Amino acid sequence: MRLDKLLANSGYGTRSEVKDILRSGRVRLREDVLTDPAFQIAEEQARFLTLDGQPITSSRYLYYCLYKPDECLTAMSDDRLFCVGDLLPPSLRTKKISPVGRLDYHTTGVLLLTNDGELSHRLTSPKWHQKKVYLVTYSGDALTEKEVVLFSKGMTLTETGHAPEKLKPAELILLSDQQCRLTLTEGKTHQVKRMLAATGRSVIALHRESMGSLTLHEGQKPGEMYALSSEEIEALIRPTLNP
Ligand code: URA
Repeated sequence: MRLDKLLANSGYGTRSEVKDILRSGRVRLREDVLTDPAFQIAEEQARFLTLDGQPITSSRYLYYCLYKPDECLTAMSDDRLFCVGDLLPPSLRTKKISPVGRLDYHTTGVLLLTNDGELSHRLTSPKWHQKKVYLVTYSGDALTEKEVVLFSKGMTLTETGHAPEKLKPAELILLSDQQCRLTLTEGKTHQVKRMLAATGRSVIALHRESMGSLTLHEGQKPGEMYALSSEEIEALIRPTLNP
């Protein structure tokens, strides 16, 4: 689509007002200033457009980082349980955004919401090794260097009734007798709980601190979400473009 048309359609003024904005050098595609109203812009590039340094808001793609609270289902709607969809402001409910991946009902922390289906697919595909960092509070004996080595080699889960499952190497940092930080590069169902269970421990509380470059903002409270800036969007997307 022509750039002036895209901006006008996005509510930034009439075609002639938009041309004036462009001439004054206020619109950028990443670092490049765009002044030509006839510049052809592909739909996937639109997310990197800024006006006066701010993302062009009615871009087709939306990205939010939610601080998922405890007792909240990772789903957009549910008949019985409180869910992520209940935390969205009414203006977003019609935008077809959904969570990328899943956190358990009691797991708290970083959850990406977007309507960018392609990115969602790339981030959850086993091909992309996005680091996910979890703060784990557990019960049982304190984890030791033995588990640090076991996890770092890529353990095999042998659960009754299931075929053995080989996991990718994971980084375990011992924080205290009941807490550790675990970094995974894959996202198998209930993976953290299953890894801890395999060592004879149980997870009491689980909090995702980050997913790739995405973290909670300082002061962000459970249930709150923020819209990603164009830099945050780019930092998230860039590592998924080349496996
Ligand atoms: N691993 C789990 O066991 N639960 C989560 O919610 C996320 C990772």
